[in-house]
Amino acid sequence: MAHILSVDQFVDFHLIQRLFNRSAELKAMQRWQYPKPLAGKVIATLFYEPSTRTRLSFESATALLGGQIVSTESAGEFSSAAKGETLEDTIRVVSGYADAIVLRHPEIGAARRAAEVSGVPIINAGDGAGQHPTQALLDLFTIYQLKGQIDGLTIGMVGDLKNGRTVHSLTQLLIPYDVDIVGIAPTALAMPTNQAGHKVKPVEHWDDVIGDLDVIYMTRIQKERFVSVKEYKALKDSFVLDPNVMKRAKTSAIVMHPLPRVGEIDPEVDVDPRAVYFEQARNGLFVRMALLEQLIGGQHA
Ligand code: NCD
Repeated sequence: MAHILSVDQFVDFHLIQRLFNRSAELKAMQRWQYPKPLAGKVIATLFYEPSTRTRLSFESATALLGGQIVSTESAGEFSSAAKGETLEDTIRVVSGYADAIVLRHPEIGAARRAAEVSGVPIINAGDGAGQHPTQALLDLFTIYQLKGQIDGLTIGMVGDLKNGRTVHSLTQLLIPYDVDIVGIAPTALAMPTNQAGHKVKPVEHWDDVIGDLDVIYMTRIQKERFVSVKEYKALKDSFVLDPNVMKRAKTSAIVMHPLPRVGEIDPEVDVDPRAVYFEQARNGLFVRMALLEQLIGGQHA
């Protein structure tokens, strides 16, 4: 595996199982026990869109495995892109400095374009409203750790299913499993068919389905993808998860969110033991460590 561009590279159960076993091992280790397979390696994080979790967890993962980081967090503004350099040229140059490039970019397909010209692995850390494969892997890892298995689950994805790249990747990653996926969204924000929308049963209200869900996967309405502020405002509070709604959810359900949240989960839900979104965010570190070990650290799957 040379690049991580989309989740269809992870349809192999053995690959996933190995990745998750290793992620769990790393999660259970003390920091001093971490191996240093990235010693002498440099990872570039090239982010043209805002990020907290994805960039910092990749950078922490690199540091903990003994590697070094070079980073541009507002690449559109602070890299030569501001002078008019193309993404392709920037990638050609950075791939001469680093052993891998973690790329976030506002355009769908940017990571694939980068991979075509890069001499080193490209890791897609989000390409516009397209894909976010490493998020989907940490999401699936979280479900697997907390529910014990994937098959048989009913998974509700809530919010902006049209523009949310995390739900696009997660739905595609779930294709080989025996799961029911319910897409809870206003019609204007339903899951597009080209993003595995055919796997998703669309509903516009959650009253009838909330009690059936094993996983409640909340998402932010993706303000930056809207052309009209008015339309964003009309849709932004479509679904707010609060203690009242939680009363109708299964006692065994888990509530996930890729974060950041901006009002769609009431902070009062945080004390509910079913709220796992902060653990989910922490899992990102271990899954990204396991991926970096395999991709750059010479630990082959
Ligand atoms: C998500 C993203 O960037 O797509 N954040 C993340 O990586 N955890 C979700 C979002 O921004 O809403």
